[in-house]
Amino acid sequence: MAHKSELIASDIEAYLKAHQYKSLLRFITCGSVDDGKSTLIGRLLYESKMIFEDQLAALEADSRKVGTRGGELDFALLVDGLAAEREQGITIDVAYRFFSTEKRKFIVADTPGHEQYTRNMVTGASTADLAVILIDARKGVLTQTRRHSFLVSLLGIRKVVLAINKMDLIGYARDVFETILQEYRDFAAQIGLDDITAIPMSAVYGDNIVERGTNMPWYQGPTLMHHLETVEVGDDLPTKPFRLPVQWVNRPHHEFRGFAGLIASGTVRKGDRIRSLPSGRESRVARIVTAAGDLDSAVAGQSVTLTLETEIDVSRGDVIAAGDAPPQVADQFEATIVWMHDDPMLQGRDYLLKIGARTVSATVAPLKYKINVNTLEQTAGERLELNDIGVCELELDRGIPFEPYKDDHALGGFILIDRMTNNTVGAGLLHFALRRSQNVHWQALDVNKPARAQIKGQKSCVLWFTGLSGAGKSTIANLVEKRLLSMGRHTYLLDGDNVRHGLNKDLGFTPQDRVENIRRVAEVSKLMVDAGLIVLVSFISPFRAERRMARELLEPGEFLEVFVDTPIAVAEKRDVKGLYKKARRGELKNFTGVDSPYEAPEHAEMRIDTLELSSEQAADRIVGQLGAAGMLKRT
Ligand code: ADX
Repeated sequence: MAHKSELIASDIEAYLKAHQYKSLLRFITCGSVDDGKSTLIGRLLYESKMIFEDQLAALEADSRKVGTRGGELDFALLVDGLAAEREQGITIDVAYRFFSTEKRKFIVADTPGHEQYTRNMVTGASTADLAVILIDARKGVLTQTRRHSFLVSLLGIRKVVLAINKMDLIGYARDVFETILQEYRDFAAQIGLDDITAIPMSAVYGDNIVERGTNMPWYQGPTLMHHLETVEVGDDLPTKPFRLPVQWVNRPHHEFRGFAGLIASGTVRKGDRIRSLPSGRESRVARIVTAAGDLDSAVAGQSVTLTLETEIDVSRGDVIAAGDAPPQVADQFEATIVWMHDDPMLQGRDYLLKIGARTVSATVAPLKYKINVNTLEQTAGERLELNDIGVCELELDRGIPFEPYKDDHALGGFILIDRMTNNTVGAGLLHFALRRSQNVHWQALDVNKPARAQIKGQKSCVLWFTGLSGAGKSTIANLVEKRLLSMGRHTYLLDGDNVRHGLNKDLGFTPQDRVENIRRVAEVSKLMVDAGLIVLVSFISPFRAERRMARELLEPGEFLEVFVDTPIAVAEKRDVKGLYKKARRGELKNFTGVDSPYEAPEHAEMRIDTLELSSEQAADRIVGQLGAAGMLKRT
């Protein structure tokens, strides 16, 4: 590696020490292929001499082969490292690069500028202190400039460098630079960006990148490198209230119980009074343990293990906070979500939400509006597609300690994970807790589920029939209900076709309507179980995610899934309602099994093979199994 430091040769120890204590600036570059972004980063890396020698050799060879600069060094090639990118001439995905100068260390996140890559930009921007937004001086402020700036502002980056590039192509004209800057400032003010440093430059010739050059004597401001080296990224985290999200509980033996994690904000000292959340229990800090020995105090950014004076219950995912300034705990929020997956986000579906070290269940209800990042317009919608941004209400299955994202990225930023595939499907920021969750309290009622079930002499539960249209669900459920009634049981049958005439008559068969259909019927069946009934639910309920959601609404053992397993060919042959024919003719859209999926259960409590059993036999078997599971014992 080449680095122009005299110190390396004369005193390597001193060099390493200076290097170690240099401050770190994380920044992101936003722009598109044509703005010269790769050339700009390549030049920064080259000028800082932190390019590996072999990389340099490859660059020279490549420049001769495929470069756009007639054999001169083409810095874009250095950055567009991936073969696929070179061939297509575009940059895809986030690349993090490290470089350093005499004054500072840098991590630059390079993200592509195409519309469909919003998610990459979100990933790159979430940890950045500053954004370099590139503009082609010939084109001025474009839609994508607005989009990038909006995302930068959304993700809480306050400092922007407006790099007005390709000045060489407009004759280094000052008035063009001034006009672009004014237009940008007007726009930026609308989205709350006001700390803007504009630099006219030519990445190709190097003007105002590291050296000033002689082409723009009218420009008095800093070069890009000088600005990056000296800009203050006021780190106010140490002065904020203390927060430590607990990554793990360290318990090597009986005498030691420590809570380890990275301090997200504030300062902690031995003896400080702390409060653990969500439990709200208090104690004092006994020791601050690190690999390098005990400390008297520690600040944001340090990884530590705390031990407490008294034993209080703290688990992974809890937050240890300053006793006199703890964060709020809530389970309903307004939030912004950026969707990152090809499968759309469905309102009403249950996702896993990971915030800090904590994972909870979350439902989007409802999506309030979507934001057009190009125009900042708000539009209505029920789903978010890949790269869409929306503001929504989020409901969690339990309270979490949090901070608004604008105050604390660690306690206000989250990701959403698909429960089935474990893929990260979205990222989001919490705005604030909804007041209604603070003021609506669960009523503890004296007459409760066991009491209501007992007076009927039964245990309440749900028999959830799922299967294709025409599989025989309703026929079998109907027979089961008749048998239970004749045994003196109190039941209720919720049937898809019937419920869709009343409670759910506003819903159709799009994926999001089906999610909502099942959500409502699951809530209703929960109420009926609470009323002490044996509830039979007969809905196609084609998605595993929602059947699981229904299961999780109930207590263990109360939900019995009955898979009415009929091959599609057989259901289609029977075609009792003539719907398969219609669907095949294309007159009925989103028909299950034809142009909408059916996800068969993997762990149903009962599976009924309708080719093997008649409906009567199936009903007998189900009632038999219900008895065997102890659900029909007189209480
Ligand atoms: S679910 O998928 O949302 O659970 P549900 O059980 O409520 O469906 O309703 C299914 C019934 O609606 C079917 O038995 C059929 O009679 C009728 N139906 C009408 N259009 C469709 C469709 N596109 N797909 C499936 N069923 C449909």
